[in-house]
Amino acid sequence: MISFKNVTKRYGEEIVAVNDVDFTVEEGKIVVLLGPSGCGKTTLLRMVNRLESISEGEIIINNENSKDLDAIELRRKIGYVIQSNGLFPNMTIEENVMLVPDLLGWSKKEKRERFEYLMKLIGLDAKDYGKRFPHELSGGQQQRIGVVRALAADPPVMLMDEPFGALDPIIRDKIQEEFLQIQREVKKTILFVSHDIDEAIKMADKIVLLRNGEIMQFDTPSKMLSHPKNEFVSQFFGKDRAIKSLSLHTVEDLQTIIGLGPVDESIQDTKTINIHQDLRNTLSMLMNQEADQVVVKNDQDENIGTITIDLVQKYLHFEIKGKMSASQEG
Ligand SMILES: Nc1ncnc2c1ncn2[C@@H]1O[C@H](COP(=O)(O)OP(=O)(O)OP(=O)(O)O)[C@@H](O)[C@H]1O
Ligand SMILES: [Mg+2]
Repeated sequence: MISFKNVTKRYGEEIVAVNDVDFTVEEGKIVVLLGPSGCGKTTLLRMVNRLESISEGEIIINNENSKDLDAIELRRKIGYVIQSNGLFPNMTIEENVMLVPDLLGWSKKEKRERFEYLMKLIGLDAKDYGKRFPHELSGGQQQRIGVVRALAADPPVMLMDEPFGALDPIIRDKIQEEFLQIQREVKKTILFVSHDIDEAIKMADKIVLLRNGEIMQFDTPSKMLSHPKNEFVSQFFGKDRAIKSLSLHTVEDLQTIIGLGPVDESIQDTKTINIHQDLRNTLSMLMNQEADQVVVKNDQDENIGTITIDLVQKYLHFEIKGKMSASQEG
């Protein structure tokens, strides 16, 4: 758990980078700090591991006040991923990943086992990649290494500053999925900086939306999209809030609420999607598709129906927009 209690950060007399910020990241949850450039996201993050001092207020990490912990102890408890992945070019991948365990004096055997476990999580061969240097990996692979390096000493808390920011959209999407998969297994308490609305909606249990160092809203992605607290929040998420919230719904939700179309066995070679696929991806898949329908498969790989653009639009209008306007009237 990370609790910010009325935290303020001043630079000199004039600049208030963070203003009276108060929120908690519950254990095992991901909170995304979102907002325009200069709103204080990085400053907030760096106060947690004491790379920046706190001007007023306090930060409590797993029931301990950050100011009572020494820097080394703090580093052991907190994994930190920076935007440029921060790998050391002259160290091998294994040396990079095992940096903190090394500092903590783990045995050779412990380090080896941990390294193999971590590489398995990201689907890279430990033997092959362990001996390589960072420049011998693709950008996406380097980013993955940056993430597992932060996980290396199994810290309960992770700070991630735009960890996937430098990647192209397709690889970023894949790494986000992969990271969420890992998070389901490791259940870290994570503070994650992003300036990307889609990434925030996808990754966050809750979003902190900041402006000029102040919290505009602290809520779940779906609450923030459907019940923006003020003009700034609704402007920030933009006119297509409804379409963005499609990513919080799955084909299965659509099946439950309005039902899928029938399977036409005579049509061959249609594309298929899994029932757990989110509706935003489904919609873009349908729009890039020449066929106007795709077949939905369940986890047993059985065809259980079809989905069309029409059905997604129907869902969008009645389930999402309907609820948004009902909540604005009420
Ligand atoms: N060392 C510093 N001295 C003075 N002002 C600073 C310092 N570091 C940051 N600031 C100011 O504090 C504010 C918040 O900066 P911060 O880096 O936290 O923003 P950010 O939300 O991470 O932005 P970005 O999305 O561009 O990374 C900015 O106005 C910045 O200019
Ligand atoms: Mg920043």
